[in-house]
Amino acid sequence: MQTADRVSQFGESTIRDMTRLALKHNAINLSQGYPDFDPPAAVLEAATAAIHGGANQYTITWGYPALRRKLAELYTDQLGWPVDPDVHVTVTCGVTEGIVVAMMATLNPGDEIIIIEPAHENFRPEALMIGVTPVAVPLESPHYRLDADRLAAAITPRTRALLLNTPHNPTGRVFDADEVAIVTALVEKHNLLLITDEIYNRILYDNRVHVAPGSLEPLRDRTITVGGFGKSYAMTGWRLGYMIAPSSLATAVHRIHDYLTICAPTPLQAAAVAALELPESYYAQMTRDYHTRRDAMMSYLEEAGFVASLPEGAYYTMADFSQMDLPQAQWDATRFARWLTTEIGVAAVPGTSFYSTPGYGNQSVRFAFPKKLATLQEAGARLAKMHVR
Ligand SMILES: Cc1ncc(COP(=O)(O)O)c(C=O)c1O
Repeated sequence: MQTADRVSQFGESTIRDMTRLALKHNAINLSQGYPDFDPPAAVLEAATAAIHGGANQYTITWGYPALRRKLAELYTDQLGWPVDPDVHVTVTCGVTEGIVVAMMATLNPGDEIIIIEPAHENFRPEALMIGVTPVAVPLESPHYRLDADRLAAAITPRTRALLLNTPHNPTGRVFDADEVAIVTALVEKHNLLLITDEIYNRILYDNRVHVAPGSLEPLRDRTITVGGFGKSYAMTGWRLGYMIAPSSLATAVHRIHDYLTICAPTPLQAAAVAALELPESYYAQMTRDYHTRRDAMMSYLEEAGFVASLPEGAYYTMADFSQMDLPQAQWDATRFARWLTTEIGVAAVPGTSFYSTPGYGNQSVRFAFPKKLATLQEAGARLAKMHVR
């Protein structure tokens, strides 16, 4: 039987493949970015209460009303304009659906979208699936800073949108005000749509503060803000995200989401209200815990001989292995990551899988550290033995 041409435009996800390899070889899985600890107890209880309390049928397409009200309150604050729960908010099946909906609602086949690389592996296939051309703008290691000239050079008459993920997977960067100003100027000048992926907006280090780009005056009417619950509340398997779209795009977003998934899971949406009602102390503790995890991860990597820059946000670091005193240090990233998984027992993701631009990412692997300290310690012990094998 025939398969669609679009399927040949991308391969299977390397990240999910590394997870399968990790499971097969009983490796500690620092490849895919998900926690090995549970969501907050209050949220788990709210989910079971919702299931037993009858919240088991489709909810209104745009999202469970109480959740949309909460999100509208939160984002009225964050974005600085009156977010209407019935107009601007859409609850999605994860940020993944949110990004697809944002593209489908606004872009036509043949349009171009700028994707800053290294990038979350899903962005490119998501564009290709709907006939949109992803145009990659690579960032240079080890600082991964946005470069105004490079971004500007990627613009063509077909460019319609730019996708910005901050805090950033896989580098751990939080793009600073100067870098966001570069994006803002470009988007304004070329009349582009900005799609943001802010799934890590609650995971920040060293007193950094997240500023939603859509809150900046010139971007307010041209930004679709996409956020999620998976990372902030350790519930990636719940598949819950949301979009805040400006009035001119809101109907298009609603329409695509309606036909794509009808609605996100109702009882989990009901429980997500409890997540948004958690006290500030929850975020304070989470922030402390992530600092501890980050610092542990960085010291294990340094001891093992990796060169990795300190994450500013999110829970990843790109670690350069090329300076290690090992024959494997001369291998390419895929071979190195597979060796690390099968022989050392620690799974990571080859840096190349975050770039479509040839020649990038071949000397680094990405480690994800949303893990219990005991898990990270065991990974550290295994990495420390690398040199004596
Ligand atoms: C930047 C980024 N966006 C989106 C996702 C996926 O989000 P979700 O699980 O809510 O679909 C991830 C997951 O790792 C991510 O890192």
